[in-house]
Amino acid sequence: MSNDTLWYKDAVFYQVYVRAFRDSNSDGHGDLRGLTQKLDYIQRLGVDCLWLMPIYPSPLKDDGYDISNFYNIAETFGTVDDFKTLIQDAHRRGIRIIMDLVLNHTSDQHPWFQASRADKNSPYRGYYVWSDTDRKYTDARIIFLDTEPSNWTWDEQAGQFYWHRFYASQPDLNYDNPAVQEEMINVARFWLDLGIDGFRADAVPYLFEREGTNCENLPETHAYLKKLRVFVDANYPGRILLCEANQWPEDVRPYFGDGDEFHMGFHFPIMPRIFMALKKGLADDMVGILNRTPSIPENCQWCIFLRNHDELTLEMVTEEERQWMWGQYAPEPRMKLNLGIRRRLAPLLDNDRRKIELAYSILFTLPGSPIVYYGDEIGMGDNIWLHDRNGVRMPMQWDAGPTSGFSEADLKSWYSPLTNDEVFGPSQVNVESQVNCPESLWHTIRHMIAIRKKYQCFGRGEFEWVDVRTNAIAAYQRKYKNEILLAIHNLGDSPVDVNTEQDAVDILSGEDLPHGTLTLAPLQYRWLLSRSDG
Ligand code: BGC
Repeated sequence: MSNDTLWYKDAVFYQVYVRAFRDSNSDGHGDLRGLTQKLDYIQRLGVDCLWLMPIYPSPLKDDGYDISNFYNIAETFGTVDDFKTLIQDAHRRGIRIIMDLVLNHTSDQHPWFQASRADKNSPYRGYYVWSDTDRKYTDARIIFLDTEPSNWTWDEQAGQFYWHRFYASQPDLNYDNPAVQEEMINVARFWLDLGIDGFRADAVPYLFEREGTNCENLPETHAYLKKLRVFVDANYPGRILLCEANQWPEDVRPYFGDGDEFHMGFHFPIMPRIFMALKKGLADDMVGILNRTPSIPENCQWCIFLRNHDELTLEMVTEEERQWMWGQYAPEPRMKLNLGIRRRLAPLLDNDRRKIELAYSILFTLPGSPIVYYGDEIGMGDNIWLHDRNGVRMPMQWDAGPTSGFSEADLKSWYSPLTNDEVFGPSQVNVESQVNCPESLWHTIRHMIAIRKKYQCFGRGEFEWVDVRTNAIAAYQRKYKNEILLAIHNLGDSPVDVNTEQDAVDILSGEDLPHGTLTLAPLQYRWLLSRSDG
């Protein structure tokens, strides 16, 4: 593993839903041992860091983001010892691991909440946000719009309302209470001591509430997050904090502070605009959002993604853009969820290999470190008819067999059905056949990752749009030290001639390309490394 404390700037991340990955003990749920068995596969793909979705004990009202014990691992996933083994085995292969740290809320089954609701005089009463009225903080939006009528829920036992930004089964912690602030630092300490390499800090904009505000991104929230960073830097140098703030770039910018808050932050708004660009055949929306993205401190990095475990969020678009995106990508009403779309990458892109590759090429060349969502490297499908976001969290398809190599358990005890879709079922889409076929999507993705890792301009280079006189082309330069890379993408459905000014080599194909006119076929992309300075 590299000793560079800025490792995350060059890293390729891979997001794993442990329950979906590989079941080692035939109970129908993926687990830590199963994931450990598959580390060779992850290593072969070229991944540098895994992000594990929550593995804590949980009643699973929000698939593990509702935590009932911060200091243990859910039984179905294994034990703390299994986790240690996973970390060791991953580290041995040069793969780091970050995990979700859910700071904002707990499950209503958490003993803190149970004690809090049961007794007004309990020290835990002040761990949550209680009120006699539900008319406080009315400027705060509701996030789970499809299910939650309010951010307040009446609790019969407590005789008061409690505050929650997500499901009612996820009461928000009260960060005005210093004991809560300290507890959550202790939680971080526990997992960092086990050897993990950092956290994806969940839903951080909502830690504090203040009347008259939308209760997002408050100065108090930033102050606490800076304390967390001080703690991490002082005790665990080289470990990282990745910020999940689904916000506009100018509102995410403060989460980097002066390089003293988060190491990394997701760039949410670029994601839907990549999909807009692919559908419209025009780069304009991507250009617009990147041009309004502020620069970030040297030691910070954006994290970019195409899809993840949630709905494809359309929070960071205008109302008009949202309607357009729904019209284009969610033609079936069931595909919509809250302010988003519950579909996976391949079905969204019509399972068109050229579009999928183009999307990945954009992901791997834009500024930031890319995250690949498990299963999207082989183009897995989804099931919009499953509850909530479960349709994008289905079992990994390892082979073409009837159980897809995920589990030996009776199918009835599986946490989720497999897709039986003719196009996306395991007989059509699976790891084994793609690994064995050099022309597969998997090999293309693996190749892109391998090439990306040879050049630091991808992770660290400056970014500049290159004008090629047509907005059907997304062309940009990435420059770092003596590496000058031109990434060009033909988003349109007609061939386009592009004039290049320098001799270059296409580092994906190895082809030498003297300067002059270059024709890009529809949906073609190229990564051109300038030869001017060798
Ligand atoms: C996670 C969701 C989760 C929510 C509440 C989000 O940001 O990505 O999956 O439901 O936080 O914890």
